[in-house]
Amino acid sequence: MLAPEIKTREKPLDRIDQLVAAHRPGYALTRPFYMDPEIYERDLERVFFRHWHCLAHESVIPNPGDFEVFKLASEAVILTRAKDGTVHAMLNLCRHRGAEVCTKPKGNAKAFVCPYHAWTYGNDGALKAARLMPKDFKREDHGLKKLHVRVVEGLVFISFAKEPLDFSEVENLLHATAGQYGWGKAKVAHRQTYPVDANWKLAVENYVECYHCGPAHPEYSETHALEQPLHMIEELNAKMEARTCALGIDVGSGDHWQTSRNNKEAIHAFRYALYDGVKTGSKDGSPLSTLMGRFSDFDGGVTSIHLGGTSFLVCYADHGMIYRFIPRGVEACEMELIWLVDEKAEAGVDYDFDKLTWLWTVTTDEDKAIIEHTSRGVRSHFYEPGPIAPMEQNELRYINWYLDEISRPVGA
Ligand code: FES
Ligand code: FE
Repeated sequence: MLAPEIKTREKPLDRIDQLVAAHRPGYALTRPFYMDPEIYERDLERVFFRHWHCLAHESVIPNPGDFEVFKLASEAVILTRAKDGTVHAMLNLCRHRGAEVCTKPKGNAKAFVCPYHAWTYGNDGALKAARLMPKDFKREDHGLKKLHVRVVEGLVFISFAKEPLDFSEVENLLHATAGQYGWGKAKVAHRQTYPVDANWKLAVENYVECYHCGPAHPEYSETHALEQPLHMIEELNAKMEARTCALGIDVGSGDHWQTSRNNKEAIHAFRYALYDGVKTGSKDGSPLSTLMGRFSDFDGGVTSIHLGGTSFLVCYADHGMIYRFIPRGVEACEMELIWLVDEKAEAGVDYDFDKLTWLWTVTTDEDKAIIEHTSRGVRSHFYEPGPIAPMEQNELRYINWYLDEISRPVGA
């Protein structure tokens, strides 16, 4: 498997450690964390190349030979389904002189032929042919660099790490949550990528807190009780849990948090209610698509899962959302939204495309704007981090997790 390069230059490491040590607990991050190229490199090394990422729903490559190329930070990853149905992920760079071997964004292919000198790779990454090489050349030592892959409840996860973080707790929790919602038998109804002119952490920090929901997301706040402090929606949440229970379903999220200590992948799962009478995340609260998984009726609830540093899942009874955060440079990132529906649901029959995508489209347009407003603000030399509000407890947890990840030696 791929070995990430761990840089050991002392000077930048010392400087970053000092910035981490100077962090004021309970406050937002300082300016360099959003602008400093060395911190960005540390982010890639300690967060991006170390943690698991949700790449896609496997329904995007349903048939043997199907492939799609995903761009993540500095890397391009080819996701494939081999002849035997197994899913593979490998870096899109030739083992000869580094050319991109796959030049199409997606398609179906039995093999990838490098456009430079025609080394030919199978769709499992194995090198099948290398023309005019010496007799002692070992093809088996020159396959495409493979990434670790796990497919859980239809979700494809990849890790760039040589020794990936323990994923077992994540798998258990995904079975207990996304599994109840039938995500293993879902399909992608829509994907939308939003380029954001901001450091990737500003985008994630915005996602994990709902202190901004009231002022910034009037449409979401019309239907989702999370716009209020948790202690004010306990009764609504209890009613939601009673409805879920009455359906004979136990969404085993609890309010579960596992950090990344002891080489485990981090996961946070929790549930919250929609307002009374609201069935799902739609404009007026009415159903959007056919019920999924074990749901025989709407429970008026949402299950939210935060996984690793970049992957976020939202489960409703009739559809699901995957939120992917992708660094694109020190002050640039992308958010990809993926809408899931039941695999048998038909557009125009079981769901209306515009209605299905309305809420998270308007919400993400609003998020992009406020993230970019914040990015412009924190570029000021006079920017000074303020205190994290009680309603931003998940952001506080994320910041603390992030600082721990970039300051803790790899493997500790
Ligand atoms: Fe791919 Fe030469 S770089 S065959
Ligand atoms: Fe938001």
